[in-house]
Parts: sequence; structure tokens; C-alpha cells
Amino acid sequence: MSEEVKKFKVTVDGQTVEVAPGTTILEAARQVGGKSVPPAMCYYKPLETSGGRCRTCLVEVSKGSDADPRPMPKLVASCRTTVMDGMEIKNLTSEKTQEARKAVTEFLLVNHPLDCPICDQAGECHLQDLGYEHGVENTRTEFERRTYEPEDIGPYIKLHMNRCILCARCVLAANQLTGNREHGILFRGDHAEISTYLNKALTSDYYGNVIDVCPVGALTDRTSRFASRVWFTKPVDATCQCDKCSGKAVLWMKGEEVIRVTTRQNEYGESEEWICNECRFEKKDVKYWNIEGPRHIDRHSVISLNHYEKPENYFRGIEEKKEEKPNEIGDNTTVS
Ligand code: SF4
Ligand code: FES
Repeated sequence: MSEEVKKFKVTVDGQTVEVAPGTTILEAARQVGGKSVPPAMCYYKPLETSGGRCRTCLVEVSKGSDADPRPMPKLVASCRTTVMDGMEIKNLTSEKTQEARKAVTEFLLVNHPLDCPICDQAGECHLQDLGYEHGVENTRTEFERRTYEPEDIGPYIKLHMNRCILCARCVLAANQLTGNREHGILFRGDHAEISTYLNKALTSDYYGNVIDVCPVGALTDRTSRFASRVWFTKPVDATCQCDKCSGKAVLWMKGEEVIRVTTRQNEYGESEEWICNECRFEKKDVKYWNIEGPRHIDRHSVISLNHYEKPENYFRGIEEKKEEKPNEIGDNTTVS
């Protein structure tokens, strides 16, 4: 009989869950769900070794474990830190975390152009969401944003290097999905950039998936560029007969027209099953597809909700009790 592994009790923003040893704080927070889940710009569960690059997922560990209850001295990257039994974590309820996230957002936007009105990723962009929740109205930088020589990476994928946040998801996706990786991160530090080095077209099957893993608009689908704002299209689940991939995709429709084809993504924007280039770029007609029905988009994006919440409204912690004060007429109205 197999021995049962003892689970660890972990508390995130006052809510306790039991997880297997070796689980990261981010994955434990995902089990809690809701706004206790830190944002992740570089971690991508289906891609091995992703994470640890962007720092958007920083959280405060207010109690290390039952065995050693001291708090961790610094904020930790939740995507790369594993839980301990009895660990207490603060995400939404930590002002330090929110301050750090604001600083990380500012840092990510130092060189990122504010071209959302003409960017195909607008409405689905994780950095746009992050900027909306944690960004500030004004920039403190006066220098010009970094620019790059345009690089042509073929007929299917458009690279806008000035939008890239160097999360490395596309490199990991190419490594892990295609038999023939044709691009990577060249140079180091401030000079680092995504490139094929030889201005080469990315053609391997499955390469199109780098578009879906990119959290910003640095890699977009050339076959649907500027065709429609995403919130004017209707996503539907569809399947097709394909001998290379599962053929399970989402069609983004405008009337009868298939504007683009993507993978099916979960509420964290992570692809559940990859699709091949042929399904993504060549099958832009409903005749190739069996439509299953409308797709529900879970992410807090303009596509699904059409509104954003300002963080001030939900910063108040779950643990922090609202202050109860008698008001002028003597009853105990809650003062928030
Ligand atoms: S191109 Fe996109 S996926 Fe690739 S490193 Fe840059 S931001 Fe990440
Ligand atoms: S998501 Fe954890 S460091 Fe990027």
C-alpha cells in the first residue's frame, strides 16, 4: 500500500488550504483563488522552468512555518518559492506587496511603449491589466524609450521588440514544443533582445504558440493584425480534424468571419492544449471547424467584464476587521 504524503497547511490572505509538499506559493494561492492570486508575467505553468524573471508575483511571508515561525525578511517570488507547513502568506492584505508590485509595474513600463490603442494585444494584455491596477498616471522617466531595428521573422508572426518584457516564455515554448528552435534571447542586461540573429523566418510547426504565451503584444499574429479589436470579436470553442495537434482551438469570430485562431486558455491565460501552425494560420474559415459553443473568458479582462476595479477598493484585508465606531446618532454603523 502506498504511503500517504502528509499535506502542508498554508494560509494565504487569511484563507487556509492544504497542498502537497513542493507546491509553490503561487500554486497554493491559485487553490485559494480570487484576488489572493498574485499576477504572473513570466511564470506559465505548462512551461517547465518558467518564472523567476519579472517579480510581479512578489508576496510577503509573514510566518515561515510552524517549525520556524519567523517571517521571511524580504518579499519572495511566489512562483519560485515552495511552501512550508504552517506558512502564512500575505498578498492582497500586504501593503508592502502592493507597493512592490507598483514599483515592478513602473519598472516594466520604463521601456514599454504606451501604444495600447494600436496594439493587437490590447484587451488581452497582462501588462495592460497590471498597469491599470498598479500603475500610476504619470511617468517619472524623462529619457527616450529603448528602440530596436525591426526584424522580420516571417509571414506568420510579427515581432515588436520594443514591447517585449523579456519574460522568456516564448523561448521556453519554442524549446519545449518545437523540434527546431529558431530564436532566443541575444545579448545581456539592457541590451538583451529576442531575435533570430539572422533575420530568419520562424517556420517550425507549433511555433505559432509563442504568440499565445507572450503576455504582451511583442509577438502577434500577422494573419489577423489590425483586423479587429478583440472586444468586438466573439470567441467560440471549436474542433477540427487534425493529424498534427488535438485540433481544439478558440475561433475569434466577427459575424461569419474567423478573425484569428488561438489555443484554449484558462483563467490565468495559460494554454491548455497547443495547436499547430496549420490550424492557427491556415484554417480561417468555419468550413474547417465544428463549433462547440461560446467560450467563457475568465480573466478579468475587457473581453469578459468590460470594466476594471481600482485596487484601493479591495486592498483592505480579509484579516483586517472594519473598524466599528459609534456614529453621531449612537448606533454601531461600520466605518470603512
Ligand atoms: S517576446 Fe513576449 S514571450 Fe518572448 S520574451 Fe518578450 S514578452 Fe516574453
Ligand atoms: S511570475 Fe514570478 S517572477 Fe515572474
